[in-house]
Amino acid sequence: MIALRELLSNRIADALRAIGAEGDVQIAPAQDEKFGDYQCNAAMAIAKKQGKKPRDVAQSIVEQLRIDDMCELPEIAGPGFINLRLKPGFLAKTLMDVPAQAVEDNDRLGLPLAVTQETIVIDLSSPNLAKEMHVGHLRSTVIGDCIARVLEFEGHNVIRENHVGDWGTQFGMLVAHLRRIKPDVADNPASLVIKDLETFYIEAKARFDADDEFKTEARETVVALQRGDPLIRKIWQAFCNESLRHCHEIYRQLNVRLVDRGESFYNDLMDDVIRRLERLQRENPGGAVRESEGALCIFLDGFTTREGQPLPMIVRKTDGGYNYATSDLATIVDRVERLHANRIIYVVGMSQKQHFEMLFAAAHKVGIAGANIAMEHVGFGNVLAPGGRPFKTREGGTIKLKDLLNEAVDRARRVIDQPPTDDSKRPTDLALSEKDSIAEAVGLGAIKYFDLSHSLMSDYTFDLEIMLSLEGNTAPYMLYAYARIRSIARKAGASPDARLTEAAIALEHPTEIALAKKILQFADVLQTVSRDLRPNVLTDYLFELAKAFSRFYDKKIGVRVIDATPESIRSSRLRLCDLTARVLKLGLHLLGIETIEQM
Ligand code: ARG
Repeated sequence: MIALRELLSNRIADALRAIGAEGDVQIAPAQDEKFGDYQCNAAMAIAKKQGKKPRDVAQSIVEQLRIDDMCELPEIAGPGFINLRLKPGFLAKTLMDVPAQAVEDNDRLGLPLAVTQETIVIDLSSPNLAKEMHVGHLRSTVIGDCIARVLEFEGHNVIRENHVGDWGTQFGMLVAHLRRIKPDVADNPASLVIKDLETFYIEAKARFDADDEFKTEARETVVALQRGDPLIRKIWQAFCNESLRHCHEIYRQLNVRLVDRGESFYNDLMDDVIRRLERLQRENPGGAVRESEGALCIFLDGFTTREGQPLPMIVRKTDGGYNYATSDLATIVDRVERLHANRIIYVVGMSQKQHFEMLFAAAHKVGIAGANIAMEHVGFGNVLAPGGRPFKTREGGTIKLKDLLNEAVDRARRVIDQPPTDDSKRPTDLALSEKDSIAEAVGLGAIKYFDLSHSLMSDYTFDLEIMLSLEGNTAPYMLYAYARIRSIARKAGASPDARLTEAAIALEHPTEIALAKKILQFADVLQTVSRDLRPNVLTDYLFELAKAFSRFYDKKIGVRVIDATPESIRSSRLRLCDLTARVLKLGLHLLGIETIEQM
């Protein structure tokens, strides 16, 4: 499948060159289908530069445009927009060029790989191991996974790193507590099972707050941990392994792959980072790396406090200790020098926006990352509880992510047991075990889809009712739309046979043409998602595709499919059904959601 926007852009670029006006082709999907499918806004900018009338420039672009194999005659509108409308014959041919599905699980719909393949590190999920994962960790995990899937699909070498918090003062407290309640843990670390990490943390904290002797012990334990005391390290490792086991239960359930690369991994590298910075400080005493009030700092242009004072990034505290910034500089050293990454993407909440801005500026400034290394922070808003409140239990504790996932699966089970709301029959003969796996797919899919369908910047309210609804922009709706198309194919006795995949496509009816266009926009959409790293562009598109299909298949406004005549029209339409299903399946897969054939 070719990306139509890119193809049209190339044609327009040729035309711009022909009129001696190279530059931005400015092509975008049309706002309203009344005006065509794509709109080119280049004439306005060129006219301004050349001191001409925009409509005249648009006219000369159109005269040079070699596009009649793809589009109807371009129209010039308003101040000088060029409106382009794709020809049904071109759409049909482009759809027929989509290769047949070769291997069931590896359908790329003929989409190309990226021209330059990069090594990309994605920093995702990254909970703090002291406590159990809560709903706040959902977004980074799900968004990071989706971005990774899209970039992997383009053929990049993607390394998914789980930068868990496994280092620092809290771990002294936890290890000291663990030693008290389970004295044999060092001899028998594998036997450690913590049923509930949340309670464990609360107990340790309560003891820390109430007992001065324990407080001292906890502090000594941190020092011993960081010094590398073998016994303390062993107990700390046992705790981390146990906590990671909890995390990986969730990753398994969500079908998210990643490698654990916690803060502790960078412990030695942090010394190295500081040595490099000290060298810079010696070489250039008045430079960006300077001491301030006993702390080692990197001073960066453009970062100031509220009072207008320079705001440095502290990399070694007055007490000699390192901090979050030090460890994140070390992640960059490791990712650039060991992993040879040329792009690093941090999927972390918006609250850390400034940390990452300073981190990236600092890494470039001190030469840890060259100008060729792209670093991006994909930030996101909060998940709120119904009513817009912070997500807490009635007692003020955190709600565990595990419990939320299980609740979604339970509720999905109830949705599946409901009779269908429209006239299409749902199979009633599903086996119990099948129902369980469908509930799992629908429930978890619903949570993921709902999260991904919100724009990254906005907060959203976690509402199982809405996310499990069979109507609207939800996973159940999308999964159901997919299953329904598959059942049409089964009923027609057409899937996936050779006659169908070779059938000629003819597009006549408006709903048929609209569906064809939607299917072919998939390539444009994937390019946008990978360029902007915005999963909701993909969910919005899939929702529109499902709606275009509903109109196409609608008894009143659409066309006949299974009982269409003659056979050539029937098979053309069945092939459109098949292509729609394949796009839905691949699109959902890239969101981390697997389709089900029957629902
Ligand atoms: N553990 C951190 C937190 O819970 C997130 C880490 C994000 N990744 C990073 N490289 N800083 O806030």
